[in-house]
Amino acid sequence: MSKKSLILALVAALAAHATGALADVSAGEKKAELCVNCHRVDNSHSAPLLDGLPAAYLLKQFALYISGKRFGPAMQSNLAAASSEDLQSIADYFSSRPPLRAVTKMTADQQTQDAGSTMARTLDCSDCHGADYRGTKDVPRLAGQLRNYLAFQISKMQRDHTLHPPMSSTGQLIPQPEIEALATYFASLEP
Ligand code: HEC
Ligand code: HEC
Repeated sequence: MSKKSLILALVAALAAHATGALADVSAGEKKAELCVNCHRVDNSHSAPLLDGLPAAYLLKQFALYISGKRFGPAMQSNLAAASSEDLQSIADYFSSRPPLRAVTKMTADQQTQDAGSTMARTLDCSDCHGADYRGTKDVPRLAGQLRNYLAFQISKMQRDHTLHPPMSSTGQLIPQPEIEALATYFASLEP
């Protein structure tokens, strides 16, 4: 193959790949119609925001719910009917979207946010959750996520080490008021 035709072939392959990815995203949007009934920014169903979460993370959660390892009765039945192709395109759709901030009606006082900020730094949450807690390739973003969802998950995860690495090096549980402060702080950040 001449250099020129090699380049042309590469361009064609790249274009085909890009169209494929776009097709997946719009198929995903259609398949996600059920999901956005609950997973939307107005937070009327207390469901976490999925926009902009890493696809690898989403796929892992789908598998955890379906297998029952992660408890979420609504989620188990919502996902059970989807094929693995459906799940892939739904994950691609949500992860392709820009992250949004959940609407929180609660007004957080500055003191609580500061306490949460100090706590998060002391416990090195950003080691895995990335700079400004915006997530990494397969660790979810915490910034801008629904506050009550975060508080609930932190309580749950620190008791269940199969779902999350230990939250503190001493193995001590984070007390509830501090969990609330952490959640308030993460929810207040720009996603
Ligand atoms: C009836 C409302 C409802 C519907 C419909 C729904 N969900 Fe959920 N979803 C929830 C709730 C509530 C939670 C929080 C459950 C928990 O505590 O684990 C959740 C959690 C999740 C999570 C975990 C997010 C995270 O940050 O770890 C994912 C992923 C998810 N849902 C995906 C979906 C997908 C994909 C669909 C559509 C096929 C869907 N959901 C449909 C209510 C819903
Ligand atoms: C050693 C790495 C690591 C550290 C440190 C860490 N996390 Fe995580 N965290 C993870 C991983 C990995 C997941 C996703 C778990 C999964 O794939 O199911 C996660 C998930 C979460 C979730 C669930 C988010 C969602 O959308 O459902 C919350 C909340 C959370 N972490 C809070 C914290 C807090 C608070 C700290 C600091 C006290 C912390 N994490 C420190 C690795 C870490």
